[in-house]
Amino acid sequence: MTEKGTIHIIDDEPIIHEVLGDLLTSEGYTVVNSSNGEEALEKHSSRSFELILLDLLMPGMDGIEVLKRLKKIDPHAVIIIITAYASVESAISAMKMGAFDYVQKPFKHDELLLTVERAIEHKKLQEENLRLKDELKRKFSFENIIGKSKKMQDVFELIRASAPTRSTILLQGESGTGKELAASAIHQNSDRKSLPFITVNSGSLPPDLLESLLFGHVKGAFTGAVSLKTGLFETAEKGTIFFDEISSLNQETQAKLLRVMQEKEFMMLGGTKTIKVDVRIIAATNSDLEELIRQQKFRQDLFYRLNVIKIELPPLRERKEDIPLLVRHFLNVYGKENKKKVESITEDVLEILVNYAWPGNIRELENMIERAVVLTKTKLITRENLPPFLVSAQEERGAFTPSSQELNLKEHLQSFQKNAIISALKESKGIQKKAAGILGVKPTTLNEMIKRLKIDVFDLS
Ligand SMILES: Nc1ncnc2c1ncn2[C@@H]1O[C@H](COP(=O)(O)OP(=O)(O)OP(=O)(O)O)[C@@H](O)[C@H]1O
Ligand SMILES: [Mg+2]
Repeated sequence: MTEKGTIHIIDDEPIIHEVLGDLLTSEGYTVVNSSNGEEALEKHSSRSFELILLDLLMPGMDGIEVLKRLKKIDPHAVIIIITAYASVESAISAMKMGAFDYVQKPFKHDELLLTVERAIEHKKLQEENLRLKDELKRKFSFENIIGKSKKMQDVFELIRASAPTRSTILLQGESGTGKELAASAIHQNSDRKSLPFITVNSGSLPPDLLESLLFGHVKGAFTGAVSLKTGLFETAEKGTIFFDEISSLNQETQAKLLRVMQEKEFMMLGGTKTIKVDVRIIAATNSDLEELIRQQKFRQDLFYRLNVIKIELPPLRERKEDIPLLVRHFLNVYGKENKKKVESITEDVLEILVNYAWPGNIRELENMIERAVVLTKTKLITRENLPPFLVSAQEERGAFTPSSQELNLKEHLQSFQKNAIISALKESKGIQKKAAGILGVKPTTLNEMIKRLKIDVFDLS
């Protein structure tokens, strides 16, 4: 196939072959001619074409019949009907049978070319979609985790290998990179899968409450402990506990966790008996634990205990080749959820998505696609369905490319992130929670980024 595609012209008039042939080849298409239905079908039995231009009125097998048979051979064939103005009605019935469009004879060259271009674009999208659907089915997913990049394939490999063991796993990655998803995939692929998988959000609770939640308490352990309460370690027996954002554990709880991991036993708050447990631990963090150890905020011994198998979830900007596949996946998910059949995204939208730095990683992409699916009124996602800050970021991309060659990648990303955050803050009128939603990061993450990037929230100009 030539780059622009091969077009099959099926028409009984040699003059049409000549005129269309000249026009289309001068535009870079390759042209193949057939003078009647039989000859055309014969050609289709051995190959396919990007586009078919089909005359309706031909001696012998008429165009409608040819159309029917072509669609039987190749249901995805894209066909434009050529028709005399007198027979527009039959052109319309051909459209009902799956023709892409029709042009009337005599046709204006630029109109015809435009229709041809649209049809070829449609064909490309269709092929890309079929290919992505196929890839999703085949090998580029593990449980619900999608990724074809080498980095994600390595992650799948590590998950596969470590899941069936009892080993503690440390998941490291920025916000929204899929740590929780990976933790649940590990549990699902272990022989613990029919037993509890419990997530502990250590950051969201005051230390005392967290400890009583984890280990339980006996009656009278503290004011308010009116009866005995079992903790999550007991509830999770033979299952898995997932510690989300392990870095937020305070020092005392860190010590207690270390003890459970070493001794495989613990005591309830206020209790005197030790309780044996068999629980697998998976921990996740988006901070640099080694740095926290240097700052004496995280225990080194606990780190070693946790860091038996480390799985790093790469940020989305380091595996942009996964973006089209993820988009396809989320179009399926949110198309179903909203009972909308959204088939694809336009090429310029894909380009915008691929060029964006995704500070909120996959969560941000997921939110963006969900929003676009809700907003679109057609089967296609166009740039109107993207948040304005993303489109203007693309238009002003000059502003994001380093002004001097010395600007390194980190600075470049920071300036990108800064701009994305400022735009989101502007869009949400400074309400951080809302801006976090737009960016697909947790409000706490956004707040941390605002501080780190020194964004003045009172001056967003
Ligand atoms: N590789 C992936 N394929 C498909 N969906 C993904 C993938 N990675 C993440 N997601 C989706 O993105 C969202 C965020 O993922 P998840 O909650 O696992 O991230 P996280 O790393 O735990 O984030 P945080 O640090 O903010 O808690 C979820 O809806 C998840 O299903
Ligand atoms: Mg998480």
